[in-house]
Amino acid sequence: MINKQWILKNFPVGDIKEGDLVMEETSVPELNENDVLIRNIYLSLDPANRGWMSGRASYVDAMKTGDVMRGGTIGVVEKSKNQKFKEGEIVNCMGGWQEFFITNGKGVRQIPQGTGFPLDSYMSILGMTGMTAYFGLLDITKPQSGETLVVSAAAGAVGSIVCQIGKIKGCKVIGIAGSDEKCQWLVNDLGIDGAINYKTENIRNRLKDLCSDGVDIYFENVGGTITDAVLTRMNINGRISLCGLISGYNAESLVPGPAWGNLLIKRIMLKGFIVFDYFKRYIEAYQDLTTWIKEGKIKYKNHIVPGLENAENSIKKLFSGENEGKLIIKVSEDTTQN
Ligand SMILES: NC(=O)c1ccc[n+]([C@@H]2O[C@H](COP(=O)([O-])OP(=O)(O)OC[C@H]3O[C@@H](n4cnc5c(N)ncnc54)[C@H](OP(=O)(O)O)[C@@H]3O)[C@@H](O)[C@H]2O)c1
Repeated sequence: MINKQWILKNFPVGDIKEGDLVMEETSVPELNENDVLIRNIYLSLDPANRGWMSGRASYVDAMKTGDVMRGGTIGVVEKSKNQKFKEGEIVNCMGGWQEFFITNGKGVRQIPQGTGFPLDSYMSILGMTGMTAYFGLLDITKPQSGETLVVSAAAGAVGSIVCQIGKIKGCKVIGIAGSDEKCQWLVNDLGIDGAINYKTENIRNRLKDLCSDGVDIYFENVGGTITDAVLTRMNINGRISLCGLISGYNAESLVPGPAWGNLLIKRIMLKGFIVFDYFKRYIEAYQDLTTWIKEGKIKYKNHIVPGLENAENSIKKLFSGENEGKLIIKVSEDTTQN
C-alpha cells in the first residue's frame, strides 16, 4: 500500500514557498504489536502550522526537516493490533499531512458516531476550533451581559464562534475582518452589532463610533496595529484573551506592536492560552456547543478543499484571508454514519 506524505524540506522564511514542503510517496509498513493503521479523512489546516514549520520548539516539540508535516486529523481505523482500537472506529489525532498514519495509539481519541453532526464538524465547531473559542472567551474573559466585546479575525473559524458565544452571553459584539462580504456576513447572518473592514476603514475611528461605552473584552487573534487600535478604546479592568497573533506568523522581522502602556494605565488583564490546556474540560464545551447548534444560536462554516495534494497551496489562504470558515483538507472518502 502506498502512502502519500507532505515532507517538510526547509524551514520557510517569510511566506511558505514552493519546495518548503514536498509531497512524496512511501510504502505503508507492516504493523507491529500495539500499532494502529489510520486512514486520514480530514486534515485540519491551522495558522499554528506555520509556527510548527519554524524549527523552534513552542508548546510542542520543534519539527525537523525531513519530518512528515504535523497536522490534526480525523480518520478511520483500517487495521488494529492494539486492543484499545477497533477497525472502523473514527478517531481524532495528530495524523499529519499524509494519507495513512501508523501509531501506538498515544494521543488518539475516538469520535462519537451516530450523533447526527457531520464528521467535519468535529474538525471545527465541535473540535479544536470550538474549544478554543469557548474556553478562550468564557474561561479567560468571563463576559457579562451588557459588556462590549471586540473580536479580530472575526469572520474566521475561531473568531466567528467567539462572536456568537458573545451574543449568547448578552454582549455587544463588534468584529474586525478583512472584507465587506465578511463584515456583512457577521452582521446580517450571525447577528453581531457591528463590523469593521480593517483593510478599507480607519479602525480607531470606527471603534469610537461603534463602541461608545468603550471595550470591556478583546479576543485577540491578530496582533500588530489592530491590537494597538483596540487598546486605545479599552475600559478600566478590561480583559484580553490572547488567542493568536496571525499578522506576525509569516513576518521576517517584528511587526509593529501595541502600546503596552495602555495595559498598565487601565489595569487590563491579558492572558494567553493554548486550547489543549482545557482538554479535560472539552465535554463542557461540547455540551453547550451542540445545544446551541441545535437551537440555531450558532452557525459555522467549513471550507473543505478536496485532495491532500492541495494542502500546501491551501494553507496560504489562512494568511491571505481567502478561507471562508474552518479550513480543512478532505484526504479521503468519509464512509461514516455521522
Ligand atoms: N491559542 C490556541 O490554542 C489557538 C487555537 C486555534 C487557533 N488559534 C489562533 O486563532 C486565530 C484564528 O485561527 P483560525 O484557525 O480560526 O483561522 P481563521 O481565522 O479561520 O483564518 C485566519 C484569518 O486570519 C485573518 N488574517 C490573516 N492575516 C491577517 C493579518 N495580517 N491581519 C489581520 N487578519 C489576518 C484572515 O481573515 P481576514 O480576511 O479577516 O483578514 C484569515 O481568514 C489564529 O491567530 C490562530 O493562531 C489559537
